[in-house]
Amino acid sequence: MYKTLIDKLSKESFLTKEEYLSLIEHRDEVREYAAQKAREKCDQVYGKKIYIRGLIEFTNYCKNNCYYCGIRAENNKCERYRLTKEQILECAYIGYDLGFRTFVLQGGEDPYFTDEILSDIIKKIKTKHPDCAVTLSIGERSFESYLNLRKAGADRYLLRHETANKDHYEILHPANMSFDNRQACIEKLKRLGYQVGVGFMVGSPGQTYEDLANELIYLKKTEPQMVGIGPFIPHKDTPFAEKTAGSAELTTFLLSLIRLTLQDVLLPATTALGTVDYLGREKGIMAGANVLMPNLSPSSVRGKYLLYDNKICTGDEAAQCVECLKRRILKTGYEIVTDRGDYIQGSDKNEI
Ligand code: SAM
Ligand code: FES
Repeated sequence: MYKTLIDKLSKESFLTKEEYLSLIEHRDEVREYAAQKAREKCDQVYGKKIYIRGLIEFTNYCKNNCYYCGIRAENNKCERYRLTKEQILECAYIGYDLGFRTFVLQGGEDPYFTDEILSDIIKKIKTKHPDCAVTLSIGERSFESYLNLRKAGADRYLLRHETANKDHYEILHPANMSFDNRQACIEKLKRLGYQVGVGFMVGSPGQTYEDLANELIYLKKTEPQMVGIGPFIPHKDTPFAEKTAGSAELTTFLLSLIRLTLQDVLLPATTALGTVDYLGREKGIMAGANVLMPNLSPSSVRGKYLLYDNKICTGDEAAQCVECLKRRILKTGYEIVTDRGDYIQGSDKNEI
């Protein structure tokens, strides 16, 4: 019965909320079959290729106070840092040599990084490496700001919606943060022709299976080019310190459902997945993921961008991370490739 539902999903790329829910509830019976079908689907679109994106965590200053996040403003135990322009460009330079053709600039919502400063950094990366894509992941900004950054050359934007349920959003965030504004930001990014990534944490406090079923409906409706999901992991200096972490098994099953729902989506096997399970990233790939985002930040600051406890790879150099991942991925029968790895459909839509 559940296999039939996976077949239906594989064929029609859509299920009802009740059908998604019953799959999530009975996933032990279909996990392997779902992973096999998801992998087949991904192979049809992307072959045996796994794309890498070099993550540059350029600031851990943040004005927000998301209850789950280790770099939230009120965490005064967090040692703050900002990379200089030169350091950021150096990360991209090292990354380029290592084969990266996409750089993801990620940070807290740090008012120091104005449009002007960011535009200069984006332009410099694009001038030096015209064959590369620049992805931003710097939270909620105005339409005008997203426009300026797009004009400066940013190609993609990751803004996890965090949850499609407004009541749940309010469990995860303080009252001055708004579900509606986050959704509005995603709309603005789409209108500006960014390739957009959304996503959520698996097992975040207050999340139900019904919420997860709704996430799949939301993703189908939103049609993002990328979806970033990873388990919630508590951080000791946040209000959620005592909450339970999300699991690798549920995360990988959801990766399979997402792959079958949005067949050509770019789907990372995240660092958080590799943190809750030593082989999490490999398991993510075998369940339908096709992107890895190793860290290019200088090793001197890696131990400071701690969103959650026990984050992996905080002591490594970029080159070590890439070598390690290449070895790990080869064992799965897949291969890391170095082209930009654009979304296969739709990337030329709405260009400004
Ligand atoms: N400030 C930007 C934003 O809000 O989109 C980007 C940085 S933010 C730290 C990136 C993502 O990390 C968030 O969207 C959230 O889903 C994830 N994250 C934060 N705390 C986490 C935790 N404790 N466990 C797992 N993921 C977490
Ligand atoms: Fe701002 Fe996490 S609270 S990045």
